[in-house]
Amino acid sequence: MATLKAVRGARDLLPPETELWNRIEATARRVFARYNFGEIRTPIFEDTALFARSVGEDTDIVSKEMYTWEDRARAQSEKAQSLTLRPENTAGVVRAYIEHKLGESGQLQKLYYIGPQFRRERPQKGRYRQFWQIGAEAIGPPSSGSESPLRDAEVLEMLATLLDELGIKDWTLELNSVGSAADRARYNDVLRAALAEVAPKMCVDCQRRAVTNPLRVLDCKVPGDQPIIETLPRIGESLGEDSKEHFAAVTEALDAAGVEYKLNSRLVRGLDYYTRTTFEFTHGGLGAQNALLGGGRYDGLSEALGGPRAPGIGFAMGLDRLVMTLQAAEQVVPQRAAMDSKCDAYIAPLGENLNAAALVLARELRRARLSVELGDGSFRLKKSFEAADKAARCIVILGEDELQSGILTVKEFATGKQTKVPRAELAGFLAGPGRE
Ligand code: HAM
Repeated sequence: MATLKAVRGARDLLPPETELWNRIEATARRVFARYNFGEIRTPIFEDTALFARSVGEDTDIVSKEMYTWEDRARAQSEKAQSLTLRPENTAGVVRAYIEHKLGESGQLQKLYYIGPQFRRERPQKGRYRQFWQIGAEAIGPPSSGSESPLRDAEVLEMLATLLDELGIKDWTLELNSVGSAADRARYNDVLRAALAEVAPKMCVDCQRRAVTNPLRVLDCKVPGDQPIIETLPRIGESLGEDSKEHFAAVTEALDAAGVEYKLNSRLVRGLDYYTRTTFEFTHGGLGAQNALLGGGRYDGLSEALGGPRAPGIGFAMGLDRLVMTLQAAEQVVPQRAAMDSKCDAYIAPLGENLNAAALVLARELRRARLSVELGDGSFRLKKSFEAADKAARCIVILGEDELQSGILTVKEFATGKQTKVPRAELAGFLAGPGRE
């Protein structure tokens, strides 16, 4: 029988690597808390219409990459519903914002999320079909200051701080403004006119997009189309005064905070909901998939989903890519994680009749907050020592004598030192100076 494997583009994450994942997540949670973001958890699947109406029908994500199915009706009164595994989390957060009337508090809502997303992309280094994002959104009624360029700058400054605290160096912040909805409509007209002549020489997707949603032509990755894309007008030329002023205030605040950035007028991002500020943080070490994270403003998204006016800005970082970057920069991480993951003690019962007593001892130590691996009385002593050396810093021998006398023998692997310790003092001894 053929063995079953994880599906292409999906993968298992195993210890010790998962420690690095947890460390990154813990750092993100700590930094988010400092900036007053609280956690939101939205469902992993949503109504397909949510993504069509937010991310956009003509985007690669919605037109090619979503995992969508017809969820059969279970009762006659129910209709079949088209559902989709979330390809991103902004749409779900804004849906939840509307559904729970979060805007009614009048406060700016600062929400973060950590979780898997799904896109049917061609798997390659740094690109998976199930991948993880750490993201955050700041959204609220205009009276909460949600439209202020200060929010954009605060989010970008937070990202610079978070990357620093994660130990990720040499990133580049690329920044652009795609203007208001009106600016974008104007730019789309300019592009449509410019494309009328050249689109027939482009790929079929671009030919379609040139008519339906010209902005998306700029996402095209087909090498043959790139020289034509280079000649197209740039979005900066279509920005109105308001958008220019907003963007100038963002860059001014970034300059004041000392956050470096590079202006990139081609950065329109592959999702339709963006307005005004858009950004990506890239890293040279990542190869072709070099975006560590991406984000921007989405001032009209809530209304497009039937909600109240609620400007917002946010981002999502590729957790898989953060892990790759840290592993490449710091080859020692897996070994160090392995060392850190050694237990405080390994209990070796000398005989199967001592297994239950060993379980009791392990319970005592674990309740004293120690990490303990439990051996088995059927092992020979040599095998116990080998297993213990791999799993723990110390071995605790539990024979009949030890059980009766209450004096246990502990051997520390680092020093080879052997010590007799009364059972009542064992937890304190194993915790040792400097250990919790
Ligand atoms: P996005 O640019 O589509 O934006 O994705 C954000 C990040 O997720 C990317 O920069 C990348 O690091 C990671 N990512 C995307 N696709 C994959 C993949 N197939 N495999 C591995 N990593 C991937 C969004 O998703 C927006 N929702 C961001 C946002 C939040 N904008 C405003 N708020």
